[in-house]
Amino acid sequence: MTNPLRMHIHDDAMAALRERIFDYARDRMQLDPPPLDKGMPFTELRAMMPDTVTESGIGGNKALDLFGEILAPASMSTDHPAMVSFIPVAPTEASILFDLVVSASCIFGGSWLEGAGAIYAENEVLKFLATEAGLPEGAGGVFVQGGTNGNLSALVAARFDAEHRLAQAGKSRPARWCFVASEEAHSSLAHSARVMDVDVIKVPVGDDGRMTGAAIEKAVAGAWGSVFAIVATGGTTNFGIVDDIASVVETAKDHDTWVHVDGAYGLAGMFAPSTKPHFDGIAGVDSFIVDPHKWLYAPYDSCALIYRNPSIGRAAHTQHASYLDVLTDTDEWNPSDFAVHLSRRARGLPLWFSLATHGVGAYREAIESNNIVARDIAAIIRESDHLELVREPMLSVVVFRRTGWTQDDYTAWSDELWEAGKAACFPSKFQGEPVLRFAIVNPRTTLDILLELVESLKDKS
Ligand SMILES: Cc1ncc(COP(=O)(O)O)c(C=O)c1O
Repeated sequence: MTNPLRMHIHDDAMAALRERIFDYARDRMQLDPPPLDKGMPFTELRAMMPDTVTESGIGGNKALDLFGEILAPASMSTDHPAMVSFIPVAPTEASILFDLVVSASCIFGGSWLEGAGAIYAENEVLKFLATEAGLPEGAGGVFVQGGTNGNLSALVAARFDAEHRLAQAGKSRPARWCFVASEEAHSSLAHSARVMDVDVIKVPVGDDGRMTGAAIEKAVAGAWGSVFAIVATGGTTNFGIVDDIASVVETAKDHDTWVHVDGAYGLAGMFAPSTKPHFDGIAGVDSFIVDPHKWLYAPYDSCALIYRNPSIGRAAHTQHASYLDVLTDTDEWNPSDFAVHLSRRARGLPLWFSLATHGVGAYREAIESNNIVARDIAAIIRESDHLELVREPMLSVVVFRRTGWTQDDYTAWSDELWEAGKAACFPSKFQGEPVLRFAIVNPRTTLDILLELVESLKDKS
């Protein structure tokens, strides 16, 4: 039998591989810009890739070569400055570096017993986010994997709270629970509803794309008895529209209902002076999320989930078992207790380190610079004969049309740019019609880059 420790020994071969990996990571971090790269059909990948997961292994050097030569180029660099589709990512180098440290540190971020130091730092960030939103002392939560998990976990806590309060009042629960959200809300909310087996009351938005308290009143009508939460969106994915949070909070107060804000992409806008006012009312919500991997310049994957009253999140989510009692039967802050998860990476640390390195002021400036680029390119689009701005950007998403173009024209234009490795700008849809969309969350996405894209739309008819 060979040595069972052979994978865990720090021998010369592993030391050499370690240096190669650090070199790879160092080189990748310093690419400015990185190659855009793109996905590849499975059959092509299969044809290029040898079997890698084998009984005896292929060796780290070979695996790294395959990653660098085949697998990485078949995965888009979502931090490319001309990647403006979906919601891109633009981690600071400090945050990426610290992600490596988190991996190397083997910290269990689920319990204070095991991860106190890391959790202390993560909680500093959560407290800072809560304070920026105006939530009272004591607000807090946890970093979860992404906005989908954050929304689900908040809604589970909201329903738990509603059921608990009904039980205390000696009342029975409704035949079906539901939550309220705008028709523009992210798909993760419909998914949460399916997972929780609850219904969604969809609220129409106004001409400005925003959901208001008055529209909620109208949509819910006599059904308040079955509503356990209202979800306002703090920056829709397609347009970056922020619901009228202040009026939503007022309506929720009238009906003693939980308000959650899905700010996965957009809530970072509260850090920039020009977009902060869009979030008026956020101080009155019961929970919110914001994803550091979207507009807070951190690597995948993380979502800050914050509760006004974390004890509700804790009561809703703590898992109980004899082997967990030592962790859970304490007053200490166990991040696992606040969401749908148990084992967890201390995924808030990359943002913590980058904030500590650069200061909050640098974040405010970077986010404001994204807003300014969005407004500048919107102004240019508005004045262009061949383009039509669909609406003024509220945050850093700009949606527009190329006049006279069909879906095929948009697809051909975006395919050509993508094939050439120049840009990832895929058509989206608004009211069933194709549109183009720039999602600007990368400080390297300059006005010049967007101007070039806008200019290239002139060439074709
Ligand atoms: C508004 C909004 N909410 C939720 C999500 C889901 O976040 P995640 O992809 O991190 O699960 C997104 C993703 O784009 C989003 O834009």
